[in-house]
Amino acid sequence: MSSSDAKSINNDFTQKDILSLSQFDRTSLETLFDKTTSIKGEKDLRKLLQILEGRVVTLLFYEPSSRTRGSFDAAVQRLGGRTLIINVEASSVAKGETLEDTIKTFENYSDAIVIRHSELGAAAKAAKVSNIPIFNAGDGIGEHPTQALLDMFTIFEKKKSLSGLVGLVAGDLKHGRTVHSLLKGLSLFENNVIYLLSPDQLRLDPELKSQLEEKGLKLFEIESVTDIPKDTDFWYWTRVQKERFSSEVEYKKVNNKFVVNNELLSLYAGPKTIIMHPLPRVGEIATEVDKDPRAVYLTDQMKNGMYVRMALLSLILSPV
Ligand code: NCD
Repeated sequence: MSSSDAKSINNDFTQKDILSLSQFDRTSLETLFDKTTSIKGEKDLRKLLQILEGRVVTLLFYEPSSRTRGSFDAAVQRLGGRTLIINVEASSVAKGETLEDTIKTFENYSDAIVIRHSELGAAAKAAKVSNIPIFNAGDGIGEHPTQALLDMFTIFEKKKSLSGLVGLVAGDLKHGRTVHSLLKGLSLFENNVIYLLSPDQLRLDPELKSQLEEKGLKLFEIESVTDIPKDTDFWYWTRVQKERFSSEVEYKKVNNKFVVNNELLSLYAGPKTIIMHPLPRVGEIATEVDKDPRAVYLTDQMKNGMYVRMALLSLILSPV
């Protein structure tokens, strides 16, 4: 099963898996973002605690994570639920247990499973055997749908629209799963134009590129910072995904070709260009940029990760 076989949300999130942005349409995104706004604005935090009261969510991470795992954990707890955090290295996975058996195990103990795995299609494989909702928290070079949802919510908050945008997406477009999901999401809206800045070796997969173009997303590949159009709505920078390379030599050839610093911002960004990054960064955004009011990667973007995940958990596990 590939992520494209995942069930459409069709504006009914109840007990659905979240595997790919291809499950979404505009109405479902609107519902999710309305819910996110309402949760984010809720002043009575005790009210939120009732939403997942008595529920348990398993966090099963086969790859490292700070923000995705941390914000899912915080999201469950802020909704009154508990998390079951599995240390994969100390589990039966280390004895050679299959992914399917591991999923069947935690299905007995919890109400949903959040999974991150190095294998493309791993979350879909988990969903196939699971009777409880599966959240894809990253499947190799595939997708990272919940990250794209928080990225889109952040763009929506700042730009008041997800149509008619001009954006720049830079870095490792070949292996970057957050980019794959984000571009799928942006292709659901009209008149979006995205400039894709990457070294030649890290270009977007041509098949994905043509699928996105067929949906109406305008994509322009550029190869130098001097090709960056002035004053776009957002910059979405990404890390070169070291762990996906066969050798350190190959990685070093392409790492940090494009670095955001104050000089680059002054040359090509506009007064309202928001600067985004899913993080972690490993040198591709200079720390001098952090204080710039246009930089949202350490603030709004990151915080929205928790709120969007709260909204998703709530719509999937506790619909009213
Ligand atoms: C991303 C990931 O795991 O794909 N991290 C994240 O969840 N924010 C990006 C990355 O690792 O570069």
